[in-house]
Amino acid sequence: MSHDVSKLRHVPVREEKKGIKVAKLVKLKPSGYPLRALGDEKEQILETDNPELFQAYAREQWGGLALKEGDFVFDSFLYPDYAFQVVRVAPGGEGRISPITKIQLDLSSVRKSEITKRYKRNISLLDVIGQEQAKKKSKIILHYLKDSDHFGEWAPRNVLFYGPPGTGKTMLSMALAAEARVPIYLNKATDLLGHCVGDGARRIHKLYDDARRNAPCIVFIDEFDAIGLDRQYQNIRGDVTEIVNALLSELDGIEENLGVVTICVTNAPALLDEALKSRFEEEVRFTLPTEKERLEILNHYVQKLPLKVKADLEKLATLTEGSSGRDLKERILKNALYEAILDGKKIIREEMLLKHLDVINIQKREQDKKASRIFS
Ligand SMILES: Nc1ncnc2c1ncn2[C@@H]1O[C@H](COP(=O)(O)OP(=O)(O)OP(=O)(O)O)[C@@H](O)[C@H]1O
Ligand SMILES: [Mg+2]
Repeated sequence: MSHDVSKLRHVPVREEKKGIKVAKLVKLKPSGYPLRALGDEKEQILETDNPELFQAYAREQWGGLALKEGDFVFDSFLYPDYAFQVVRVAPGGEGRISPITKIQLDLSSVRKSEITKRYKRNISLLDVIGQEQAKKKSKIILHYLKDSDHFGEWAPRNVLFYGPPGTGKTMLSMALAAEARVPIYLNKATDLLGHCVGDGARRIHKLYDDARRNAPCIVFIDEFDAIGLDRQYQNIRGDVTEIVNALLSELDGIEENLGVVTICVTNAPALLDEALKSRFEEEVRFTLPTEKERLEILNHYVQKLPLKVKADLEKLATLTEGSSGRDLKERILKNALYEAILDGKKIIREEMLLKHLDVINIQKREQDKKASRIFS
């Protein structure tokens, strides 16, 4: 027997089970997507501004479906495959959705967890080594987030962080939110783009609606060049212009964005649209650490390692020119730690650290070779 695949996704799980009574009330909890690509930010939490409209929408797609508490239903239209868990069916914990079933979104647990999950408490601006310009700016933002009313038209609003990978742009933003004890909305520009024309602009307005509701807070947009592209590149993605316009209106603060600070991040500021760029009151440059800063970073993380390190860190700092904070922590210290654990060693010695430094240097040379081939 052949299946019509287009119909399969709408086949209700227990449709065949006749005789199930009509539910008077069904409560659904937004539960996210069933899958997430490694490295992607956590899934979005959906909510509604119009419960009545959500009810009509839900009845239309899940009408006739028999549900019991604990089941999942999947959206098929606006957010394909987004799951909602059935948290309540009344009466009796089981029933069929009919045109008279009341359908509600249960957002109580979502709202709380959403906000508290958005910042880590255990990180502070002092943990970020170097990046003095960025820290200065962060201190102003910190004042503002703690006391938004007093700044009036002088409020810090939009800041661009740029610079090489692994230099602390994300870390500093998280530290800022933690110190101010405010939520940070972490977004990747590519996620904001959406799949369909119109999606992106809607997502941006929705993001800022949420942010305004939970102000003071930080809106963080990573890989900003993906939407902030110069107009000459925008036609690669037809609806980017529309997204840029949506973002421009939010950054301009046509709506009163009291207590909302936007931090956009890019590795490639030269690619950005001039109109967008001019909305940033400051472009804050992150740089690779100097030798002194590398030593500080190494010392800072060596103290946190669960094994003792016996090595001349000054020598390591000298040898790691061109390495970022991430290189030092994630590639040298972490890999040396893993190796020590696997070899059953109690101490991390200098040669183990140097070995991983060699690996990085070889990889860097390969990358440089590739880059020079592309640009020559
Ligand atoms: N200046 C720094 N001080 C202390 N630790 C740092 C610093 N820079 C980087 N690190 C370490 O490297 C990790 C990665 O840094 P982070 O994610 O902030 O880099 P990034 O600038 O956002 O990079 P990308 O452009 O690739 O997103 C941090 O979590 C931290 O452990
Ligand atoms: Mg980052």
